[in-house]
Amino acid sequence: MNDPSAGKPAFLRVLAGETLTTPPLWMMRQAGRYLPEYRALREKAGSFLNLCYNPEMATEVTLQPIRRFGFDAAILFSDILVVPDALGQKVTFAEGEGPRLDPITVEKGLSALSSEIDLDRLRPVYETVNHVRAGLPPETALIGFCGAPWTVASYMIAGKGTPDQAPARLFAYQHPELFGQLIDLLVKSTITHLIHQIDAGAQALQIFESFAGALPPALFRRWSMEPIGRIVAAIRTQRPGVPVIVFARGAGGGVEEVAQAGIADAVGLDWTIDPWKARETIQKLRPVQGNLDPLALIAGGDVLARAVDDIREALGDGPHVFNLGHGILPQTPIAHVEQLVERVRK
Ligand code: CP3
Repeated sequence: MNDPSAGKPAFLRVLAGETLTTPPLWMMRQAGRYLPEYRALREKAGSFLNLCYNPEMATEVTLQPIRRFGFDAAILFSDILVVPDALGQKVTFAEGEGPRLDPITVEKGLSALSSEIDLDRLRPVYETVNHVRAGLPPETALIGFCGAPWTVASYMIAGKGTPDQAPARLFAYQHPELFGQLIDLLVKSTITHLIHQIDAGAQALQIFESFAGALPPALFRRWSMEPIGRIVAAIRTQRPGVPVIVFARGAGGGVEEVAQAGIADAVGLDWTIDPWKARETIQKLRPVQGNLDPLALIAGGDVLARAVDDIREALGDGPHVFNLGHGILPQTPIAHVEQLVERVRK
């Protein structure tokens, strides 16, 4: 009766280390183009950044998947690239082509960037967090997020997504000092951005290191783990009690290192990681989140049922948040998401 965690959202209980019979569930990129109600609002907004910076519309798209599927957590609708945008770099989203940025060059260095993020530019994002929290049921947690410095820097240098972020990797080898300055600027900016999200109502944070897989181990430690560690340390000092999930996609053995180093309160697993191995290693150290292949969700039927059951069996005896192993894809049938929710909760 006197359970101190009673009333606390299931998602936050698991991040605090509890094992629940039914794992809390959300999906990376759960607000997005697979939903017709998202596509309708996206069209009305005009540009993608307009949608991110409009609190009414961004609140609405954040809540859409919660209303439809009753997920255990909502994630703020925004993007990792609002940080370079708020540093003064030109960011656009070309229809069907992904992000485009005015690339950082060795010649110009960081001269085109501000030394601090423009909080006026980001105010609508924090207002969105505030509105979303007010619109969510108490049992549904609200996640704030950012990109990890390496992933964001890789877009800032290449000007777009590339398969292995070679331009930024080469830049890091050839100009480590300048690259380090960019990483430091991103660490500082990201801490400010996350603290504002927490103060507006975010109850947990996720750091997306989407291009971890492009880094060899030594560079992963230097340019991914180290700056992420500084961000998490600052959050722990300045806003203790707000758990941070680190999702280092493609990091392979690096994921276990992240867990061992203690720089994450919980660890995201991408779909290439064997949940049965993660159970013996990573989950012994930290709560884990993941890791259904988004393509198994597109396949649906028996494929999906078996994949969900396997992950539940492998990770069900420890703290586990059910999620995909990367973002949901636009062509995913809604009926399959319904099947997923039912299967996880059965
Ligand atoms: O998860 C959510 O529902 C919250 C919102 C969210 C978006 N992007 C919305 C979005 C989050 C958490 C992100 C993170 C993000 N953005 C990452 C890390 C996660 C990952 O997928 O690895 C990255 C690398 C980005 C950068 C980015 N933004 C890319 C590469 C693209 C284009 C690719 C695509 O899916 O279109 C975006 C645009 C974007 N961000 C969309 C959404 C819903 C689609 C834009 C549209 O509607 O036209």
